[in-house]
Amino acid sequence: MTTAPRPLGIGLVSVGWMGRLHSRAYQNLPLVYPELNVAPRFVVAADTAAAGRDYATNVLGYERTVADYREVLSDPEVDVISICAPNFLHAEVGIAAAQAGKPFWIEKPVGRGAHETAAIRDAVLAAGVATTIGFNYRQPPAIQLARQLITEGKLGTITNVRGRFFGGFNSDPNAPRAWRFVREHSGSGVLGDLMGHLVDLAHFLLGPIGSVTASTGTYIHERPGVPGGPDEGKLLPVENEDYANLLVRFDESALAAGALGVFDSSWIAVGPKAEYTIEVFGTQGSLRWDFERLNELELALRDETGRVGYTRFMADDSFPEYARFQPGSGTPMGYDDLKVIEARKFVEAILDGGTENSNIHDALASAQVLTAAEASAASGQWVATPVIEGSTANLRATKAR
Ligand SMILES: NC(=O)c1ccc[n+]([C@@H]2O[C@H](COP(=O)([O-])OP(=O)(O)OC[C@H]3O[C@@H](n4cnc5c(N)ncnc54)[C@H](O)[C@@H]3O)[C@@H](O)[C@H]2O)c1
Repeated sequence: MTTAPRPLGIGLVSVGWMGRLHSRAYQNLPLVYPELNVAPRFVVAADTAAAGRDYATNVLGYERTVADYREVLSDPEVDVISICAPNFLHAEVGIAAAQAGKPFWIEKPVGRGAHETAAIRDAVLAAGVATTIGFNYRQPPAIQLARQLITEGKLGTITNVRGRFFGGFNSDPNAPRAWRFVREHSGSGVLGDLMGHLVDLAHFLLGPIGSVTASTGTYIHERPGVPGGPDEGKLLPVENEDYANLLVRFDESALAAGALGVFDSSWIAVGPKAEYTIEVFGTQGSLRWDFERLNELELALRDETGRVGYTRFMADDSFPEYARFQPGSGTPMGYDDLKVIEARKFVEAILDGGTENSNIHDALASAQVLTAAEASAASGQWVATPVIEGSTANLRATKAR
């Protein structure tokens, strides 16, 4: 006899791109992972914009909407919170959610720098609530397979890693100066927005980064005020970086102990749309992956013939999680599917103590590297980054070897 699905009351803070995507991920959970036996109930969504609230009711099916997020946190019918607000609200909402005893799934960057992330981490530890971070580039089946291959030692000793996260979404100089370009609202620019994903991906695959040096630059110096806003018609300064590059050295405790990395990231690249690539090199082989070719993994392994070249593997049911989404080999999965996997890990962490989720320690581990990168860009020096206890990178160092 099957038991009735367990209701899971969802509370959403902000109904923008991410708020809509988290909601679709919860909607898909019972279809993709029926064994979880949960029935998401869309209890309440908050947004200061009426259009967001209307969408939450009319399209996403939330039972009620509010303008003040605090009403989401205090609703006893809400079991879990999705925090999809702009960056400047992450610390305020995350700390309040923890104090309300609600587990939460929060978008990156978690706060406007490591000091805010650490404050959220402290509140989470005090409350003992589960968390999950929007580090969705951990989830592609090709990346999970890459991680397995690295763990099994198929690449030999890891020597170096290259990562390039290039987006073109801010390349139009006439695009309005939205909250992302204002330090008080966003914190850093492309560092927090894209580089944070790449740093997490490196932590996920290879273990903790031990030190970093960085350079940053701003190339579109002014943008027009948001249409309809108080600054419409004015040109306003861009307050954070458009481009960043990092050299990193992995910590001695890392799976990739002593390996070096070269990372760069732009959100004003003309041409690339979402070229998010990572390449890992070892003494016996190499692998590379690009988000624009989400369903492929390229692998070069030394064999007894001595001939070496990259082979392109298309996703099939030998890739972790793939068969959950597609029965036919090579049929593409998409970005939204990554959030369904992320939602599954979040719900498992809440219901039965699952540990596959990214957590608040991972958010702090990534934020520490970014804050160290900002300090390095200012001083021109290498900056050490502490290993964060409880982070996946730390576990990667101590357990997976
Ligand atoms: N994981 C990823 O790949 C990914 C992708 C995009 C964005 N993000 C992150 O998600 C977060 C949200 O980004 P987005 O692209 O969804 O933004 P968005 O601009 O699409 O939506 C933001 C929403 O927040 C609402 N809002 C503003 N002030 C509010 C308040 N006081 N209370 C409640 N709602 C408020 C706005 O009205 C809007 O609906 C950011 O932190 C961003 O960095 C992550």
